[in-house]
Amino acid sequence: MKTIEIATGTRVSKIVIGESYKNLSQYLPSGRSIIITDDNILKLYGHVFPAVPVISIGLGEKNKTLDTLSLIFDKLVELEADRSTFIVAIGGGIVCDVAGFAASVFMRGLPFGFVSTSLLSQVDASVGGKNGVNFRGYKNMLGVFNQPEFVIIDTSMLETLDKREFRSGFAEIVKAAAIRDEALFGYIEKHCADALNNKPDVMEKLIHESVLIKSRVVLLDEKEKGERKILNFGHTFAHAIEHTTGMLHGEAVSLGMVLAANLSVKLGLLPGSESDRIAQALHRLGLPVTMQTDHPALISAMKKDKKREGDFLHMVFLDRIGNAVIKKISYKQLEKELL
Ligand SMILES: NC(=O)c1ccc[n+]([C@@H]2O[C@H](COP(=O)([O-])OP(=O)(O)OC[C@H]3O[C@@H](n4cnc5c(N)ncnc54)[C@H](O)[C@@H]3O)[C@@H](O)[C@H]2O)c1
Ligand SMILES: [Zn+2]
Repeated sequence: MKTIEIATGTRVSKIVIGESYKNLSQYLPSGRSIIITDDNILKLYGHVFPAVPVISIGLGEKNKTLDTLSLIFDKLVELEADRSTFIVAIGGGIVCDVAGFAASVFMRGLPFGFVSTSLLSQVDASVGGKNGVNFRGYKNMLGVFNQPEFVIIDTSMLETLDKREFRSGFAEIVKAAAIRDEALFGYIEKHCADALNNKPDVMEKLIHESVLIKSRVVLLDEKEKGERKILNFGHTFAHAIEHTTGMLHGEAVSLGMVLAANLSVKLGLLPGSESDRIAQALHRLGLPVTMQTDHPALISAMKKDKKREGDFLHMVFLDRIGNAVIKKISYKQLEKELL
């Protein structure tokens, strides 16, 4: 078991990797707790939840809304939650994002913790304190920065996760290594097969190192004024790909990283052999690395990027595996290099 502590403001957030979800009760304060989960997790794990009230939300991004928040607030009122009530989210990124936001604003803020159940949420969504919901189709339009008291990461829960969702989570692990840690990248290259088999020691190492990278970046720049932007490696393309194809986030991030690494080569920043290593590792983890890209549609979707500055865009490139650099690029140049 490995623990990472993130200290921001007045709170220390504890991320425990390799802890059993069955020990959740030990993390709860002595007062009242309420669980927020989704219908899948409730069906699979509800029988081992601590004996406290449960609020379950529907599945998918379409439930990451104000309506779901309103439903949660109704239930919290019904259950007579007060400012000492502890909220536990048990689920993937959607449950954690929604429940973290609900807890942060209900009665000006209740304490909360996460049991993070999908690989994507274990390495990314449950770390860093961003909580929120979508609004009028815009992703994460409403939200807050607020760290949970604890995050429990139990890799045995990944056994019940859909295989495609599982593979998708590896994209964020490769991203963490690509932007910050060449040694971790080498480890990934050596252990693809064990990782795909969810071998506990390999998974705990991969998750621990990725969380460490993300938490260090977050500590330097909690509110994403500068440094935190390197976490967006591959994401400018990915958001556009997700939007135009409906792929899973990690699949789109995989393609986005390949495009961003190739672009880094074209701009003379990165040797071609390094971008090949990235594509190969992603491919061996069962992630897509090539697609029939409709480049004009992609660029038009990229023009809607939140990070747009007029005719320019700030994008994350690599100058070697393990080091990300942020550079301004014009849409014109992007079009020229991509087409
Ligand atoms: N806050 C952040 O910093 C941050 C970062 C990255 C992503 N996100 C958000 O995370 C969300 C995506 O998260 P996600 O990929 O975990 O999606 P998700 O929460 O929808 O989970 C994926 C699916 O897997 C199921 N599931 C989860 N864990 C399971 C398990 N152990 N066994 C069986 N089924 C399981 C869920 O019920 C769901 O159907 C997006 O909304 C994204 O915006 C947030
Ligand atoms: Zn991502």
